[in-house]
Amino acid sequence: MADPQSVICCQQLSKQYPGGILAVDRLDLSVFPGEVFGLLGPNGAGKTTTAGMLTTRVIPTGGRALVAGIDVVAHPAMAKQLIGVVPQTNTLDRSLTVRENLYFHGLFFGMGTKRARAAADYLLEQFRLADRANMPVAALSGGMAQRLMAARAIMHGPSVLFLDEPTAGLDPQSRIALWDILGELRDRGPTIFLSTHNMEEADQHCDRVAIMDRGRILAMNTPRALKASVGADTVVIVTTAGDATGLAQHLEQGVTGAMRSQMVGGKIHLHVGGVSGVLPQVVAIADDQGITVTDLSVVEPSLETVFINLTGRELRD
Ligand SMILES: Nc1ncnc2c1ncn2[C@@H]1O[C@H](COP(=O)(O)OP(=O)(O)OP(=O)(O)O)[C@@H](O)[C@H]1O
Ligand SMILES: [Mg+2]
Repeated sequence: MADPQSVICCQQLSKQYPGGILAVDRLDLSVFPGEVFGLLGPNGAGKTTTAGMLTTRVIPTGGRALVAGIDVVAHPAMAKQLIGVVPQTNTLDRSLTVRENLYFHGLFFGMGTKRARAAADYLLEQFRLADRANMPVAALSGGMAQRLMAARAIMHGPSVLFLDEPTAGLDPQSRIALWDILGELRDRGPTIFLSTHNMEEADQHCDRVAIMDRGRILAMNTPRALKASVGADTVVIVTTAGDATGLAQHLEQGVTGAMRSQMVGGKIHLHVGGVSGVLPQVVAIADDQGITVTDLSVVEPSLETVFINLTGRELRD
């Protein structure tokens, strides 16, 4: 049940869009002060709609949401002062320079000119944009634009920062740069609510993750606990040109410690608990069946494994 001590508190929060799509279905969740909380789910899961309701952009059709103790539907203007938003699409003002995007945001949120100027300069340094301060935003790379949106979102000192797919479309280096800076914010910065379909990002950067699919939360815990819930220590991935489904059955029965198998993108994922020396057994069983194994690898359970366990589908589409 949602906790009144939390920074974000959703109780049976729902959104049905005109036309009937139930994008968010009776969501209950609590996010605690200082947490990095991740909403992980595939396209269309309802992540942006959830973030939209919490940031007053989308009006819920059911339930309730409090952010920093403020009911976002009853008091949207007050709630907006307490939140910072980095939306999924670029919303920088293209008629302004990099610095002006921060400065005017500060003025809009009631900061005086002196404070807004000082805060803008401070954030330009912190977000490694100082050398671009006077350029038009059109001159920024995707990664820089994303950093500027994050800087703008925290300009007015919000309690909660919402990041919707902040690194989608960024190259690996830009992703790392953004997370480096967000990491520096962690001690004194806002609570972070992240939505992503990137399981590595959720795993690496979130204290807790809610796995969302088709408007519902299927599981919520620390990444470590979610992965442990799979029960297996290793996942053996087997690629074969032969009868994969048949081989999967034989592996489940024949491999010591095998718990279950799944077909993922045409490959067999065999979950195994508590034993070593699995690969020779896999090869021997395939040989017995006259099936050629073309590739074989061993990985640890990931949040993707958790998602597949819960839904039978892959996170990526
Ligand atoms: N304005 C809208 N009107 C009608 N349906 C909508 C609207 N916005 C979203 N939806 C639908 O609601 C569902 C959830 O969409 P949402 O954008 O919240 O998902 P998401 O998890 O953010 O997906 P993505 O990973 O693609 O960003 C989808 O089925 C989508 O088509
Ligand atoms: Mg989205």
